[in-house]
Amino acid sequence: MQFNTELIHTAYDHNDHNRALMPPIYQNSMFAMHEINEQIPFKYSRLANPTRKTLEDTIATLEKGTHGFAFASGIAGIDVIFRTFLRPNDTIVAVSDIYGGSYDLLTEVYAQWGVNVIFADLTDPSALDKILAEQQVKMLWLETPSNPLLRLVDIKTLAAKAKAHGALVGIDNTFATPYLQNPLEMGCDIVFHSATKYLGGHSDVLIGAAVVKDEKLATALNNMLVMSGAIAGPMDCWLVLRGIKTLAVRMERHCTNAHELAKRLQNHPAVAKVFYPALPDHEHHELAKQQMRGFGGVVSIYLKNNTIAAANQVIKNLKIISMASSLGGVESLVNHSYTQSHSGMSPSVKASLGIEEGLLRFSVGIEDIDDIYQDIANALDTLK
Ligand SMILES: Cc1ncc(COP(=O)(O)O)c(C=O)c1O
Repeated sequence: MQFNTELIHTAYDHNDHNRALMPPIYQNSMFAMHEINEQIPFKYSRLANPTRKTLEDTIATLEKGTHGFAFASGIAGIDVIFRTFLRPNDTIVAVSDIYGGSYDLLTEVYAQWGVNVIFADLTDPSALDKILAEQQVKMLWLETPSNPLLRLVDIKTLAAKAKAHGALVGIDNTFATPYLQNPLEMGCDIVFHSATKYLGGHSDVLIGAAVVKDEKLATALNNMLVMSGAIAGPMDCWLVLRGIKTLAVRMERHCTNAHELAKRLQNHPAVAKVFYPALPDHEHHELAKQQMRGFGGVVSIYLKNNTIAAANQVIKNLKIISMASSLGGVESLVNHSYTQSHSGMSPSVKASLGIEEGLLRFSVGIEDIDDIYQDIANALDTLK
């Protein structure tokens, strides 16, 4: 099956579920056993649940892997992955412009437990060579495109370098989704999603997902997942199963709207710079063309008036677009990374990553592009 069909017809056979055409929500903790030691597929919902399994199998197919996992939230999933594979004195190398919550988890939890955490700008892949030459690296953690400046790293090259040194390679594929790139096919071992975002797509659920294609990794992850209990509930899995059916049509519109918005914002007098990988002046435009099947639904801008006050004025004057801490839903949103997603970072770390006071990130929804642009343009006009 092709991707668009897989989104709708994967991993579920209505003949196994009383012919219910849509996957039922198995909202139960237990399954009846008829005798001691009876082998039945589902016993207790922390171990496995049919609704969760349908979602896990669906995401595994979409990400070209063999085993999927659904977690209570994205960050719970990242924690399960790190806890499965990292031990005190192990070294993890993560891209420096990692999601703020992953940064907090690594610096405030894993580093405190004795894991050696290295953040590195890997936009030039040779930066990894030096680290690999000096350290025994256990895991490489990528995130591309990154939040909020949509910087890209070369997945294939970095994965090959890390694997040549025996490191595991994990990647946060939240911004791209399997619609735009499949990292397991580029050499990664573990692909992760905050399915809270595009996979769910309707801003009504917190959930994480991961996919692998290696039996040993799958067993290790599954053991940690069921032992730590960070599983996704059946209702949440069902919401993502429903959302996933429209992933392709949503992503298509997110991408066209974002591209058009980026082009129009380049001409607005209050905007100093627009960040969107489809723009020829984006620092990683060539890599994006080669590595991704489209450019995604997030656009960020620097205001000429680079202050929190100016950013706040724009946010307060938006009428259709709300300020919120997430992305990937059908509705357009604005985020002030400096005080929201990256608030846990020190001013110097923020400065090194380009997280300026006058930076606004738009999660471009699937509304009419003219309405989206006009709302932003009207709010920007108040800065004159
Ligand atoms: C790129 C990325 N990774 C991970 C997460 C964490 O996911 P969750 O909020 O579902 O725990 C987020 C959430 O914003 C994210 O944007």
